[in-house]
Amino acid sequence: MSMTDKEKRSIQNLVPYTVAPRDQDQQAIYLDANENPYPREYRLSNKYFNRYPEPQPKVLLESYAQYAGVQPKNLLVSLGGDEAIKLIIEAFCNDENAILFSPPTFGMYAIDSYVVGSKVLEAPLTADFQVDVPAFLSAAQNAKVVFICSPNNPTGNLMNISDIEAVLNGVSEQTIVVLDEAYIEFSDRESFATRLAEFPNLAIIRTLSKAFGVAGIRCGFTIANADLIQSLQKVIAPYPMPMPVVEIAEQTLSQEGIEYMRTAVKQINQNKAAFIAALSSLSLVKKIYPSDANFILVEMIDAEKIYEHLKSEHIYVKKQSGQLSNCLRISIGTEQEMRRVIQVLSQYN
Ligand SMILES: Cc1ncc(COP(=O)(O)O)c(C=O)c1O
Repeated sequence: MSMTDKEKRSIQNLVPYTVAPRDQDQQAIYLDANENPYPREYRLSNKYFNRYPEPQPKVLLESYAQYAGVQPKNLLVSLGGDEAIKLIIEAFCNDENAILFSPPTFGMYAIDSYVVGSKVLEAPLTADFQVDVPAFLSAAQNAKVVFICSPNNPTGNLMNISDIEAVLNGVSEQTIVVLDEAYIEFSDRESFATRLAEFPNLAIIRTLSKAFGVAGIRCGFTIANADLIQSLQKVIAPYPMPMPVVEIAEQTLSQEGIEYMRTAVKQINQNKAAFIAALSSLSLVKKIYPSDANFILVEMIDAEKIYEHLKSEHIYVKKQSGQLSNCLRISIGTEQEMRRVIQVLSQYN
């Protein structure tokens, strides 16, 4: 199938999601992609790979269903939450409808919509980074898929439960509400996964990349009612999940795997509290936004210069743009890594 001129134009104009290259800098401290800094070792026992893998691996779905408190029929496993977002947009959007989200938020919603050619509508978050419910519901009348990210990337905060409910209850039955809970394990909030029965058009995005600490395997889940999951199964590739990914993902969901995840979350949250305390005494820091995730958003005196300085010291953080252009998003690493950031920042002048 050849691309139309419109499609070619849209790819040419597309600004890709930027990431710092991994493994090229031996001294690097990577605090730019909200990874878990505590690695755990995994075993691979499969030796033969001549056969295709199971399309939706049963054991993995059962383990995740048990962890998330849903049924396997309510799950789709994919190559990360990133693929889940893409599949939802591909399944429901085209160049005649639109998606809606609330900036500042995760950049991939807009990028994936751009690729399918659907329109992008925005209802900016309020000053305290909550969903502006009246503006959101009004814009949602013209949207097929709407996104709420909670905890939100890059601001770090949870969205109010009553606002999420207002959106779920207020949109038309034809509109899919995607609740991106990639960082939910770091918060003390229960997932909306337990409320699927109330909301037929809810799709929740979850991932093993953050709290579970296996960003390298690229494994994520969509949690939704069975009809919605079946629609996504129509657009996913026939054998999406490589066998080694499945084998490792299953280990993350064992009892020890879940214990490791909970211990890591506790430690990361402690590191976050200590980092915030140290950061707040530095004069170049203007504002530290409250965070329910494994990263914080920080407004700086001169974010651009500080970003470059950190980079020159091999510390990679995420630069922000638009209304947050004076902010950096800093992932929470190990205690030692965060002490190093504080040391570099306190010597900056
Ligand atoms: C809000 C949000 N959703 C989804 C993802 C995708 O995660 P992954 O594809 O690693 O599962 C990310 C990754 O940073 C994210 O920040």
